[in-house]
Amino acid sequence: MTTEQQPRAQWLGRWGFVLAATGSAVGLGNIWKFPYMTGEHGGGAFVLVYLVCILAVGVPVMMTEIAFGRRGRGSPIDAVRRVVTESGRSSAWSLLGWMAMLCGFMILSFYVVVAGWSFSYLWKMLSGGLNGSGVDDMVAIFVANNENPFNLGFWSTLVTLATMLIVGKGVQAGIEKSVSWMMPGMVVMLLILIGYGVFSGGFGEAWRFLFSFNTGSLSSEGMLAALGHAFFTLSLASGAILTYGSYLPAGASIGRTTFSVAIADTLVALMAGLAIFPIIFANGMSPEGGPGLLFMSLPLAFQAMPLGTLFGILFFVMLSMAALTSSISMVEATVSWLVDNKGITRRTAAWGTGIVLWLVSTLAMLSFNLGADWTLAGRHFFDWLDYLTSRWMMPLGGLGMVLLAGFVLKSESFREELGLAPYWHALWLFMVRYVSPLGILVIFVDALGIARLEFGVHWPWLLAVLALITLVGELLSPRLRRTLAG
Ligand code: PHE
Repeated sequence: MTTEQQPRAQWLGRWGFVLAATGSAVGLGNIWKFPYMTGEHGGGAFVLVYLVCILAVGVPVMMTEIAFGRRGRGSPIDAVRRVVTESGRSSAWSLLGWMAMLCGFMILSFYVVVAGWSFSYLWKMLSGGLNGSGVDDMVAIFVANNENPFNLGFWSTLVTLATMLIVGKGVQAGIEKSVSWMMPGMVVMLLILIGYGVFSGGFGEAWRFLFSFNTGSLSSEGMLAALGHAFFTLSLASGAILTYGSYLPAGASIGRTTFSVAIADTLVALMAGLAIFPIIFANGMSPEGGPGLLFMSLPLAFQAMPLGTLFGILFFVMLSMAALTSSISMVEATVSWLVDNKGITRRTAAWGTGIVLWLVSTLAMLSFNLGADWTLAGRHFFDWLDYLTSRWMMPLGGLGMVLLAGFVLKSESFREELGLAPYWHALWLFMVRYVSPLGILVIFVDALGIARLEFGVHWPWLLAVLALITLVGELLSPRLRRTLAG
């Protein structure tokens, strides 16, 4: 049963999509993960590789996903099915949509726990619960925060409730309205924090740390981390961008909007680094703090600096908002699928999904306390969700999408939907056929532990392999198409 008599919701304008998609892309991945990954993987060199990955894999995959969404006008499952049947191909490809929807849901199940940390630290900042004088005190506070399942559960439940409340209100009244003030607010707060950093005395050091290009530190591990992070940070292959694309008005340019989102996402990540590291350096702390960088070192720094409580509050408000505008995007695919296929209202769909989410995320939350011993093959439930989604489902889903668009579907569908000038279209096609799949395969080769690819000095080889694959691919592609047609 479908309720497709009603016209599908749309963003009010191009900015609606750009803001919502940027809100989805900018999250804990940018503000918490990107800065410390940059620190671990050689600063400027990592930043450079990451930018290449965003351009070579992220942008083409994002364009493909948005095109799927807008052409299919539905949740990932329905949209992919419509687009493949339009080309006369097997509807079994909609499995890709199922995987994306599941992936978004699984990411959200652990994401709400981390977002809950942010909310709880905001509360600690407001209520003065962060008083301590040394790193040890901060570690103790972090541990205590995790130890009590009722405490940690309270915060992740709060995030779940807030997410469902926004999504339940609908595309324009809920998502578009909330991101249209949260995103600018977040940027203003980041700018204030950077402004503080400029005068804190640690800015020069932070700048060098982030942008000094040190080729010696370009490891294969760092390259792979950059590639994987490009997927996560742009919210790819998890239903989020595809579903948001399904609300994009017909006239908007997919290429231009994709670039806007990718650039905004990258800028926020760099700005987050410029906001966080001056504080760390000015207070003589180590940049390699990992998860602790945010939740253990930063509060300490906030205490040491003048007006620190105020800046601390600003920081955690910003982080909570960034997390929330991402979490709503992870569940939108599921909610829109339920609304389109089960004949229920959006509100019912949101709360129904919320209940299941609450159960799964509670299990993930318990990994930090009651379930500390519940491991399978050395991983907690929380770690499994992270591992399965980022190492397997996202790369696999992205690979399926680009191969589908590049080799299987009628070329007119995407030519029409993307509406690019011939030169740009040829470039997009080259990227989705060869460059992006090759990049994704690299993640797999690493994940499977088959080989650690060593690139540093082997770029010419990589280019030669790419040229060879392109040649063979172009020669085989009509046959490939017939075989894959199903
Ligand atoms: N891009 C988000 C971040 O950087 C995470 C995310 C992944 C959001 C998948 C939606 C879908 O935090």
